[in-house]
Amino acid sequence: MKAICSQIFQVLKPGGKLVCGAPHPMMFAASSNIDLRLGDYCKTNEPEGGLRVDPSAYFKTISDYIETLKGCGFKIVDMKEARSPSFRSHTHRSDFPNHLVFDVEKPKNSATNAGLNSIPCKIAWSSFERSNPERALRLDLPENAAAELHCLATELVRRGVTSDTYCPTDEDVAHLENVVAFAGKLRRHLSQDVGAAHVRRLPMEPEDDLKVSAAIAKLSYYILCSLVGRVDGGARGRLFDVRDARLDAKKQDNVLFSVSQGEAPWHSDGASVDRSYDAVGLFCIHPAEEGGISFVSNAASAFEKLKSRLPGFLMHELLRPIPRDVMENGKGIGVEGGLKKLSRTQDVLVLRSRYNSYPIFVEEAGGGGERRGRLRFRYMRHWIETGHRKAGLTISPLLRIAMDALDAALDEETVFDGRLERGEMFFCNNNLFAHGRSAFVDSGPGPRRHMVRAWIQLQELS
Ligand SMILES: [Fe+2]
Repeated sequence: MKAICSQIFQVLKPGGKLVCGAPHPMMFAASSNIDLRLGDYCKTNEPEGGLRVDPSAYFKTISDYIETLKGCGFKIVDMKEARSPSFRSHTHRSDFPNHLVFDVEKPKNSATNAGLNSIPCKIAWSSFERSNPERALRLDLPENAAAELHCLATELVRRGVTSDTYCPTDEDVAHLENVVAFAGKLRRHLSQDVGAAHVRRLPMEPEDDLKVSAAIAKLSYYILCSLVGRVDGGARGRLFDVRDARLDAKKQDNVLFSVSQGEAPWHSDGASVDRSYDAVGLFCIHPAEEGGISFVSNAASAFEKLKSRLPGFLMHELLRPIPRDVMENGKGIGVEGGLKKLSRTQDVLVLRSRYNSYPIFVEEAGGGGERRGRLRFRYMRHWIETGHRKAGLTISPLLRIAMDALDAALDEETVFDGRLERGEMFFCNNNLFAHGRSAFVDSGPGPRRHMVRAWIQLQELS
């Protein structure tokens, strides 16, 4: 009973109603020896999970129903004891209530977007941009800005400063006039104009000394990102090295796709109900020997397409809160430490996954002088599937169909499909674009695939 009520609660939108009937305890009393039944009143029964049973009624007390409904989050609006005075059989007495009818509601305030108060503005691509995505996305770093970045980063690394320890000074900013101008352009590109950018020409040192060349490149990248917005290092550090750690995100718990060689299907970054990133940047220090192709799709365009294609009850699946897997902060390479292991035991994960519920799309219509409306897209199908499993819920067939349609629409709205080369970066608005990566192979003696990711909050500067 609890599993069914819980699944219905997940499927309903806030304010949605459920009216349901259930056998009244008195029905059982009427059909058997009343003294015997009432003598065993508190002995409720229910088949064990996984057992094949013939459809039957199982005895429950009124408290069982009320506590279960309330425990799943429902507000009980009304309850009736139904009787059928004109009907009488060996299981029904006309003077006994034989069914309970509940009128319950999912509270309107049960949306789970706490901490994410502002929905970002939509960006609609023009037909020219849709026909020429490469041109829309291209935003090369000007030579003078590239020279400023390289000069400062080289000097700082020589003094022992790294991307983890760097604190910008007024003097640094004064020497970065062209970088500041480019960063402003990139910020507008990501938040208002296009939503994604393929940036090339960050100077790269020869790879004679891999450590030093990577340190200079990472610091240059960090300085640029920190002028675009606030680099959010709260969950996994300022910059995250996307390198194969010989792990499998599909088979191991709490392992990120970014530290494996496997394919990372369409997703946005971030997996927590309480945390969202405005933009994600990926910088190539060294590409893979083979594969590792980056994909980017315009999720806002995919959303518009789905609205015109799917019936309302399927769109609802993409708009209702759904449980996600819980990923621990850190390096994303599994679970370490006793306390962390305890927090990932089955009992605790049921609660944590259910709390970690939020919709794939949140849309707000334009209003108050705002033409475009607002949209937030947060998706990773694998974490939705494992999140349901950990929450003890099954994915409804409707949600599965809706996610199939979403994946197909994201394929159709692909705007970038290519391999980032050394010194190239890709930035995208994490609320409006999906990204992914094909599997890769690195078996040769040369340097391994090394990308660096940054999460950027566009409305703040450090
Ligand atoms: Fe990602």
